[in-house]
Amino acid sequence: MADLTNPEKRMLSAMLGRDGKWDLEQILSACNWDDQAIAVGAGHGLSNHGLVSITENAKTSVILGPEGERALKNGLLEGRIWTWIKENPGCTMKELSSTFERHEAGPGVGLLKGLGVSLEGGKFSFEDQKTISEKIQKRQEYLGSPSTDSELYNHFKGRKNLIETVEVVERTWSLTKEGMSVDSNDLNETITIAEITPELLQSTDWKDADFRPYDVKLEASQPRTGRSHPMQALIERIRQVFLEMGFSELVDDYVQTAGWNMDALFIPQDHPAREMQDTFYLDNPRSIELDPELMAQWKAIHEHGGNTNSTGWGGTFDEEISQKGLLRTHTTVNTIQYLSRNPTDPCRVFAVDRVFRKESIDKTHLPEFHQIEGIIMEPGANLGMLVSTLKTFYEKMGYPEVRVRPAYFPYTEPSLEVEVKWRGKWLELGGAGIFRPEVTEPLGIKDPVCAWGMGLERLAMLVLDLDDIRQLYISDLEWLRNQPIL
Ligand code: PHE
Repeated sequence: MADLTNPEKRMLSAMLGRDGKWDLEQILSACNWDDQAIAVGAGHGLSNHGLVSITENAKTSVILGPEGERALKNGLLEGRIWTWIKENPGCTMKELSSTFERHEAGPGVGLLKGLGVSLEGGKFSFEDQKTISEKIQKRQEYLGSPSTDSELYNHFKGRKNLIETVEVVERTWSLTKEGMSVDSNDLNETITIAEITPELLQSTDWKDADFRPYDVKLEASQPRTGRSHPMQALIERIRQVFLEMGFSELVDDYVQTAGWNMDALFIPQDHPAREMQDTFYLDNPRSIELDPELMAQWKAIHEHGGNTNSTGWGGTFDEEISQKGLLRTHTTVNTIQYLSRNPTDPCRVFAVDRVFRKESIDKTHLPEFHQIEGIIMEPGANLGMLVSTLKTFYEKMGYPEVRVRPAYFPYTEPSLEVEVKWRGKWLELGGAGIFRPEVTEPLGIKDPVCAWGMGLERLAMLVLDLDDIRQLYISDLEWLRNQPIL
């Protein structure tokens, strides 16, 4: 009797119970296993010993992709639009576009045109309502049991993320003559060791142990282990890069005052970005008390330039506006406060943190996003240093081509826009500049300060090759599992 491993013995003794072909389900239940890799492994072993013969049959099977899952649940896009068109006789493309999202309306109508709906002068018309409904119904039914046999397979293959084909190998096992002649009394299981543990190695048991041999050619189930979200992994990578470059990290609150978020940065109190429709002001705390002396300094700067050569913005500065509570609109609110606490010690500081703006959500905008902020303050800090720091950063992130263009921010002079080259195109990733005297003077800062604030999600879109920023936050498990490890 050949040397069999435990799983081989178990499988063989199960199969001795009855003649004929066994499929995977039957083996698993007869052996009381739940891991198909064990069954496949044991089957291979038995076949190597000539006790079992295997037939393998590779089959293409069709599963739903992420869009397919969604369509199965909520209905196909063309079906949803078709229902809407039928419920709203005489409706126009314009009305449709205000009911469905832009990325749905266009492609959805395209699909309906293929089914016999026409769109003329902005209005929908169709002749054979019944046939259109039936065709859509058939497509919807296909998603319930997708296969390669149906003529709809080619249709769905041409649509993005609806279906996926996977190769599966179907196996059956049956006893060979030799297998049938095995005496089941010989098949008592012995203890074999499948896993080497520290305890085993520390004891002396390993000396006489029976080890299960490895067979690297066998299929194994793919382990799904925990891992960082790609966004978290990217943030870690950015931290690593700035730490390598000698920066320290700053972490601070996102509930802030308009005073620090804007006044300290010489953003005029009537600046459009300060309006309710752009900034989330808080009901609680509606107002946060600020040091009157500090506000007096901002007031002087804003109204007439204080002790600087600036003429300020003129008008009347309102301390109540300064004390309004808000969700920070940029992380510059934190670096400026860091400088106010440490106005004289040269520093290199960065932050990667969340900011808030009242944006409507679309492919490239979210109301909550992240910025990569940083400052360098030291004697002689200058524009060249700023640009080369940003270049080094993006180079380390894998984007060696960086350029800057003139820009405007109320708090920096000169001000820059930073762009990186990606697939032959220049993409804007953020702003930078050197803080103006109107910003540094009231805080007692003597050395020049280079500052920048970059979009993290924008960078993530490049790194992860996304065309829709929302993909980062919708918890699409399949997508998350398949992201490269950064
Ligand atoms: N705070 C700016 C923004 O949110 C970026 C910036 C930071 C610009 C620092 C200049 C200096 O877009």
